[in-house]
Amino acid sequence: MGLPSDFSRHVKSAADIVRIIGEQVRLKKSGNNYLGLCPFHQEKTPSFSVHSARQFYYCFGCGAKGDVFQFVIATERLSFPEAVRRVAQLAGIPVPQEVPYGGASSPEARLRAALHEVHQRALEFYRKQLQSSEASPLREIIRNRGVTAETVEEFGLGFAPGKGSSLASFLLKEGFPEKVLEESGLLLRRDSGGFRDRFRNRWIFPIAAENGKVVAFAGRAIGQEQPKYLNSPETPLYSKSHLLYNLFRAREAIRNSDSAVLVEGYMDAIAVHQAGVQNVVASCGTSLTQRQVQKLSRYGREVVVNYDPDLAGKTATDRSVSILLEEEMSVRILRLEGNMDPDQFIQKKGGEAYRAHLAEAEPFFRYLAARVLETHGKSTPEAKVAGLNFVLPFVAKVPNKLIRAELVADIAQKIDVSPGIVWDTFREAAVARRESFQLPRAATRIPSAEAMLIRLLLDSEESRQEVVPVLRQKDLLSEFEAGTIVSALVGMIEGGSAPDMASLADRLEEAQQRLLAEIVFDREARPVNIDEVSTYILALERKRVQRERVSLQHRIQEAQKQSDGQLAMELLREQQHIDRRLAELLQ
Ligand code: UTP
Ligand code: MN
Repeated sequence: MGLPSDFSRHVKSAADIVRIIGEQVRLKKSGNNYLGLCPFHQEKTPSFSVHSARQFYYCFGCGAKGDVFQFVIATERLSFPEAVRRVAQLAGIPVPQEVPYGGASSPEARLRAALHEVHQRALEFYRKQLQSSEASPLREIIRNRGVTAETVEEFGLGFAPGKGSSLASFLLKEGFPEKVLEESGLLLRRDSGGFRDRFRNRWIFPIAAENGKVVAFAGRAIGQEQPKYLNSPETPLYSKSHLLYNLFRAREAIRNSDSAVLVEGYMDAIAVHQAGVQNVVASCGTSLTQRQVQKLSRYGREVVVNYDPDLAGKTATDRSVSILLEEEMSVRILRLEGNMDPDQFIQKKGGEAYRAHLAEAEPFFRYLAARVLETHGKSTPEAKVAGLNFVLPFVAKVPNKLIRAELVADIAQKIDVSPGIVWDTFREAAVARRESFQLPRAATRIPSAEAMLIRLLLDSEESRQEVVPVLRQKDLLSEFEAGTIVSALVGMIEGGSAPDMASLADRLEEAQQRLLAEIVFDREARPVNIDEVSTYILALERKRVQRERVSLQHRIQEAQKQSDGQLAMELLREQQHIDRRLAELLQ
């Protein structure tokens, strides 16, 4: 059994799709619509459009589309009832109590619920194992690294025993189905049957999603074994490139300070957190992804990048800066003295020293200028050119013109060239900027009166009642260029359902879906006005009469060619009649 169906309708009309999608995608207003980078495919220029009045999204790049429920179903992998609940919760609408959770959920949703449960039980298992005698060397290591008991507790740190299948036995005893255990990624199937543990003799770091639920684990070698860190594989719950370690603990602090500290490793995040800096997240070794930045950007505008000082860390910093700038984040760089990663620094110098350095982190262009000098020097003209070529792509990514100008001046000064030359080089590089945040003019294929009628039918119950019978009576449905769309739309209306964009789109083929989106998202469209209905209908009628006139002229020519004078006369009379009607319609 599911939720009462009018509840989902109520939620849909009460929830603001722009706000809900805006939690996950940075949306900018563009005309009557909102635009952002599509979360369903990789893109650099925004083609993901959200229409607030019509409660609909459409991506002109990949064709993803739907209403607010379909959005959370796709992004959070929920079943429909879960999505209704989720949206209700986001919109602050109380959910009816009596409906059992998961009662009507899909197999995928049930699997995910079970996987969450497995991870929760595994978390408890690993934490308990940290108290075992086998874990005593690890407890010693943890103590020596300055991690407090409180931090161990807060971060849920644990221990995976060396024995090959202790977690496996534990979870099997808990009664989880084998399929669930296999999908969890925590156990591996043995060739000989049965399971063994993925993590053996490792220090366990639970990895939680943004809502705080554990979705994966990382296991660090206790000694020098390789690999140093072992991670859960990608599962239905966990996607490494989407997740930022510690984001759920950090997000309030990021919101409050409008700033996040970005570090590389689990231990760094933990140490920085313990040093009293709560807005810290870790990208976990991989280079930062656009998705991760988009998540971060929902909470704050600034990121202080504090990666390791080694070469890998520097390269990762360069790449991260680039991605952060593209997402219009403001970026500072913290370089710690003495070649230490944040964790080592804090162990050596203490939290207070760390916080002091953090406050002084330099704007990213200072860092870049220093990087230019470091990697290219400024002794020869060639070195300067190479330096400029290194740094200008970053500059090009800065959205704000003023800051860009400042940057250019700063860099020119650092590497001793005139700002004019930097600008010239910059223009030559002519890196494509996405200054204009707009879709191309849409729907030019469709006459505007027709597009207006379609928008009216979608928007206004009053116009539906007025227009549909007229279109039928005057037999104008076939005059629409977007005939398929109009038929589907009128079909829905006559079938008694209020035409909603998502269900209308579901009835169309992809090309028609796109056309519909073009009509609906047309940024130059004037607001629809029911008083203009008759004008639009007249336009359709004119179109039909004009079409009839053209075909009549063909027939007249034909008759004249055949020297059929009588037929030609008749047809000419008919043409006069048509011309009169046209004149009337044009008044
Ligand atoms: P580091 O090698 O810098 O480790 O890797 P660390 O976090 O400083 O750990 P300690 O201080 O030596 O104990 C940084 C991050 O890169 C990822 C992990 O997320 C790690 O925290 N990593 C590293 C892996 O995923 N796998 C590896 O084998 C190594
Ligand atoms: Mn470290």
